[in-house]
Amino acid sequence: MNSLTAYPVSRICGEYLPPGDKSISHRLTMLGALAQGTSHFTHFLNADDCLGTMKAFQAMGVRFRLNEQDENERPSLTVDGVGLQGLKPPSYELDLGNSGTTMRLLLGILAGQPFEAHLTGDNSLKKRPMRRVTEPLKKMGARITGRDNGNFAPLTIQGGPLTGISWENQIASAQVKSAVLLAGLYADGETSVLEPVVSRDHTERLLAAFGAPVKRIGARVVVERANQLQAIRIRVPGDLSSAAFFIVAALLVPQSDLLIRGVGLNPTRIGMIDVLKSMGANLEVKVTEEQGGEPLGEIRVRTSRLRGCKVTRDLVPSLIDELPILMIACALADGESVIQGAEELRVKETDRIHSMVTGLYAIGARVKEVSDGCVMEGVRELKGGTVSSFEDHRTAMSFLIAGFRSKEGVRVSGAGCIQTSYPGFTRDLNLLSGGTLPV
Ligand code: S3P
Repeated sequence: MNSLTAYPVSRICGEYLPPGDKSISHRLTMLGALAQGTSHFTHFLNADDCLGTMKAFQAMGVRFRLNEQDENERPSLTVDGVGLQGLKPPSYELDLGNSGTTMRLLLGILAGQPFEAHLTGDNSLKKRPMRRVTEPLKKMGARITGRDNGNFAPLTIQGGPLTGISWENQIASAQVKSAVLLAGLYADGETSVLEPVVSRDHTERLLAAFGAPVKRIGARVVVERANQLQAIRIRVPGDLSSAAFFIVAALLVPQSDLLIRGVGLNPTRIGMIDVLKSMGANLEVKVTEEQGGEPLGEIRVRTSRLRGCKVTRDLVPSLIDELPILMIACALADGESVIQGAEELRVKETDRIHSMVTGLYAIGARVKEVSDGCVMEGVRELKGGTVSSFEDHRTAMSFLIAGFRSKEGVRVSGAGCIQTSYPGFTRDLNLLSGGTLPV
């Protein structure tokens, strides 16, 4: 499935259950491995990224049972936790593929282990900045080496006794916050993290669900050394970042009416919903339940005429992974849209400002790249053409949705990377759109 082409469809209708949340699936795999007892997670995301996390812990002696399809035809994961002190030194280099979340959070855990580990990844991961996590972890007592003084993988980490720190994040990053908090489980005294804007708080919520001593004091998250974590059973909320492609598709394709069920509605993740509403999107959102301290519920989406929006720095952390697909919505909205304060997009799986602006321009959008985002003037219809995924899963999926509102269709080359986060993407899209993308 290296290249895929999407053409206009007549509607997006029906009920849609998005796959399990990627951020939560990573964290459950890690915390389940460190817990006492057997954890069970239904609706687990069995995409390449999360399978990479599982394999890294397998290499450290943790036993998992991945059931590709449970009775509801969704994957589930069972983990026999080894306890906080039970990991074994890996006997080979851990290859974490494309996943920044795995590398950064794992560094936090490894900082507290009495052994050495070697971490690497694919060409994209080797270019992503790690100093943001290696710096606080070194301050806590870990020894980390790698290119550019520990900024780039391959990295070697020698963990050991840690001391708690009070860390002020310069950027709003859940991965940095999580790495420091996970190391804090092993550190003497208190470890706390303060961020300029609150980033996704799954680690805090799940640590509490596993029984760890974590609390929020004002804007600061504080964790203490943990004696043990207790195994849990939960259903993973659907991934709002995956659902975002279907939300924008249903807004843009005429005569659409889509009901999304079981989707995560964590308040630190829903910036996209607020922005789309400000653009005139017809969205009905309802929280229906909670799993592991995470709210989830339903979103009903109907075709809407959208107007331009302004995304400012304070909003960026709550919709960081949705910005690529939001740019597609902006490209087809009435009037001007401005996205600013989003320079973090430049250090994702690819430089997503560049990948999106390049592709948008190629298919007939009116867009201008700026250092921290872009400016767009909406058009009624995109011309279409060929774009590159830049080997980035969210860029690939965004442009397939753009194909639904193009004259000639949009061909995405390098679409295999969609497996990183959403193996069933084309199957789900076909089911709801009547389309015929290869599955
Ligand atoms: C994630 C945090 C975000 C996000 C990434 C997943 C997480 O990254 O973009 O896809 O699971 O903690 P940053 O922490 O770098 O902002």
